[in-house]
Amino acid sequence: WWSHVTPAPRDPILGVTEAFLADTHPSKVNVGVGAYRNDKGKPVVLQCVREAERRIAGSKFMEYLPMGGSVKFTEFAIRLAYGDEADVLNDKRVASVQTLSGTGACRLFADFQKRFKPESLVYIPIPTWSNHHNIWRDARVESRLFRYYDPATKGLDFSGLMEDVKNAPSGSFFLLHACAHNPTGVDPSEEQWKEISQLFKEKGHFPLFDMAYQGFASGDTEKDGQAIRIFMNDGHQIACGQSFAKNMGLYGQRVGCLSVICSTPQESVAVKSQLQQIARPMYSNPPLHGAEIVSTILSDPELKDLWHKEVKEMADRIISMREALRFNLEKLGSKLNWQHVTDQIGMFCYSGLTEEQVDRLTREFHVYLTRNGRISMAGVTTGNVEYLANAVHEVSK
Ligand code: LMR
Repeated sequence: WWSHVTPAPRDPILGVTEAFLADTHPSKVNVGVGAYRNDKGKPVVLQCVREAERRIAGSKFMEYLPMGGSVKFTEFAIRLAYGDEADVLNDKRVASVQTLSGTGACRLFADFQKRFKPESLVYIPIPTWSNHHNIWRDARVESRLFRYYDPATKGLDFSGLMEDVKNAPSGSFFLLHACAHNPTGVDPSEEQWKEISQLFKEKGHFPLFDMAYQGFASGDTEKDGQAIRIFMNDGHQIACGQSFAKNMGLYGQRVGCLSVICSTPQESVAVKSQLQQIARPMYSNPPLHGAEIVSTILSDPELKDLWHKEVKEMADRIISMREALRFNLEKLGSKLNWQHVTDQIGMFCYSGLTEEQVDRLTREFHVYLTRNGRISMAGVTTGNVEYLANAVHEVSK
């Protein structure tokens, strides 16, 4: 039956983890996947999560969640995204469903887009998280690219972005990263977001925000919601995919939320029912445990404060590793400019290393990263930063 099936290519991100695990070299370093590590290089379970687990332990409720997931969870998730006092929430105009993390949110939206706007296009930034391409491809939505990053400045290609938004057919869908853009670590400024939002209005485009890193850009979850708030206050009907993988360290729990701002409460009931209908034949209903953890934290002011503190600690450790990496590269006498290492934000540094240089890093130094030169700063520690800087210097001189 299956003799015609050939092995699938390695995933450009998760394949790096597989290769890292297979390497037995003692100095190996994994700066591939975007998963937070402490300064000892160990995965972290947040204290707020531990406390939430303690509170829900022994729960007798192991029943199915509804198709749209935990309503308590989605209510708190959308308050985090849009702000407690958002009119769209008071007006009950937001359709929200619990999803299998951020990937599940994007995929559910892509399927919804295909079903209800079958002719529409999606514009995807260059570059973007590699899985975004797979998601819209598998949902059979035709995609186009828009300019986002300028390799010359290692910053935002704002004029290219605006030109592509302008030239896209009116009513196109655009995938935007709400904050801490993956893989570049480059976000528009507040002023630039405002201009982008205005142009979207003129063109009647639909913005879908992927918000996988709320809290990781600035260390402040409210501030990191600024793009969402700007578009919302300008009256856009946006959609937003949230993930709690990074900011609560709940990677394997697969807990996320897809929300869609609608024009009326009736419309939001209809949209939610259709999102559920798409989920039902795929996975019936989402898992319980992660949603319980998140809603326990977000509904308790004390735990929420602790969470804010812990997110900031993670974000701050990453910032200090950016400084240490740049410092070490400069100390080694690198002739290249490494300012972007500290200018970029969030979990990633888009180093500018070429595929050949990345291959050398892996082959000669056992440093694992994606071939686009993205370094997950979350995997850098005081123990490996000198080794990493030296390896980067050796392949880039
Ligand atoms: C990443 O970009 O490394 C993460 O979002 C993990 C993943 O699933 O790719």
